[in-house]
Amino acid sequence: MPGATKMQSSVLQVIFTSFVFLSSVNNGYAGTTSTFTRKEWPSIDIPLDNEAFAVPEGYNAPQQVHITQGDYDGKAVIISWVTADEPGPSRVQYGISKNRYDFTAEGKMTNYTMYRYKSGFIHQVLVDGLEHDTKYYYKIGNGESAREFWFQTPPKIDPDAPYKFGIIGDLGQTYNSLSTLEHYMQSGAQTVLFAGDLAYADRYQYNDVGIRWDSWGCFIERSAAYQPWIWSAGNHEIEYFPYMDEVIPFKSYLHRYPTPYLASKSSSPLWYAIRRASAHIIVLSSYSPFVKYTPQWRWLNEEFKRVNREKTPWLIVLMHVPIYNSNEAHFMEGESMRAVFESWFLKHKVDVVFAGHVHAYERSYRISNVHYNVSSGQHYPVPDKSAPVYITVGDGGNQEGLAGRFRDPQPDYSAFREASYGHSTLEIRNRTHALYHWNRNDDGNKVATDSFVLRNQYWASNRRRRKLRKNHLRSVVGPIAY
Ligand SMILES: *[C@@H]1O[C@H](CO)[C@@H](O)[C@H](O)[C@H]1NC(C)=O
Ligand SMILES: *[C@@H]1O[C@H](CO)[C@@H](O)[C@H](O)[C@H]1NC(C)=O
Ligand SMILES: *[C@@H]1O[C@H](CO)[C@@H](O)[C@H](O)[C@H]1NC(C)=O
Ligand SMILES: [Fe+2]
Repeated sequence: MPGATKMQSSVLQVIFTSFVFLSSVNNGYAGTTSTFTRKEWPSIDIPLDNEAFAVPEGYNAPQQVHITQGDYDGKAVIISWVTADEPGPSRVQYGISKNRYDFTAEGKMTNYTMYRYKSGFIHQVLVDGLEHDTKYYYKIGNGESAREFWFQTPPKIDPDAPYKFGIIGDLGQTYNSLSTLEHYMQSGAQTVLFAGDLAYADRYQYNDVGIRWDSWGCFIERSAAYQPWIWSAGNHEIEYFPYMDEVIPFKSYLHRYPTPYLASKSSSPLWYAIRRASAHIIVLSSYSPFVKYTPQWRWLNEEFKRVNREKTPWLIVLMHVPIYNSNEAHFMEGESMRAVFESWFLKHKVDVVFAGHVHAYERSYRISNVHYNVSSGQHYPVPDKSAPVYITVGDGGNQEGLAGRFRDPQPDYSAFREASYGHSTLEIRNRTHALYHWNRNDDGNKVATDSFVLRNQYWASNRRRRKLRKNHLRSVVGPIAY
């Protein structure tokens, strides 16, 4: 191909691959069920005295340090940590060079009880007014016990700002969880989109629940103190424990993992949105009311109106329960939310929906199932170019183990599925292209397994692309697989 750039030829290659892909869809075949099996490490939590949960030395030293985005556009972070011996100050010193902390931010302290467990002193400090695309150093704690960390703010909101997100779900605190976390940290991704089910502390009883929340806070600090984790809540965050008279839902989660919900005009930390680089990220709560007229429904309706694809081309939804899943585990649990929100996802051309909950990996084609009503109409998923790709990454590695039984035969909507542990990355290149990988944990190695180019739903339908599609996919009708 004289004159063709390397990039053009790789685009052609991708299109060619998709041709093969789509042809097979038209022949009525579903996607791939990976036959990969690996020796699973036992699904048991790492013992509390393991160094994975090491508490820093020193009187009242800050522990369980984590950060999340603190505003709508990425010029603020919320820094949170726990002190065990006494409250101490909720103060962050920060600046743009190491060991020079020109600025100070003050926040608040909270604590709670769970049965007879008393939490440490949980500090939450909003550090705002930051510059975009800048490395900040920060210091928390007092005297000898003070600790120092750093983070990088995202580039300013721009349709072509490149950015690399990681996606982790259902992490827990087993040896498999540690492997996932270590692999994620090698990925070079800049922010975690967390698909719910954090610590699995609710698998314990009485005071051990709080203790396992603490160990998980220590566990993730190696990453979460240095880059934001964007939280969404799963069923293991609900913690409805009548047997010990603890029935306030999400008590531990809400005390420990603050979110910037006010910045997106939400009335609850459980659902909210942020914008980061070229992405608009909507976080939903699978376990809060979402039917018509509820606060979450009203908020989402308004939030979709605030999405501006000219500024943030990438529209990503994060939730716990998958809407399309072909595993025996949790099959159809997402139906109620699908009935309420799926048509909005099509209308607003959401690019991708990330979920967890099912302890396996699965990716759908672009499909929808909205042309039915309770009395009649078509009631099965069909190829739909306006639909998002649905990706389930509930395979972080918690103590419940893998969901190894997929429904057979593989439904037409399912493009790829594999029951092993791992995490995903979404590397946004510009307004039209993002590279996606799912990375399997393979006996301690990170192996990129399911990879594809995600085309932006708003921008990728430009003239050049239409022309290419016409030439190469003339007779193909069906889902765009990526
Ligand atoms: C929070 O900490 C304060 C100070 O130690 C203590 O008096 C109070 O009882 C704690 N509250 C809860 C809910 O644990
Ligand atoms: C339900 O579906 C039937 C058949 O497609 C259609 O005639 C009817 O108008 C639909 N009802 C609603 C409320 O959409
Ligand atoms: C976007 O990135 C893709 C992949 O890197 C590249 O092929 C394409 O030319 C880029 N588009 C623009 C408008 O820069
Ligand atoms: Fe779950």
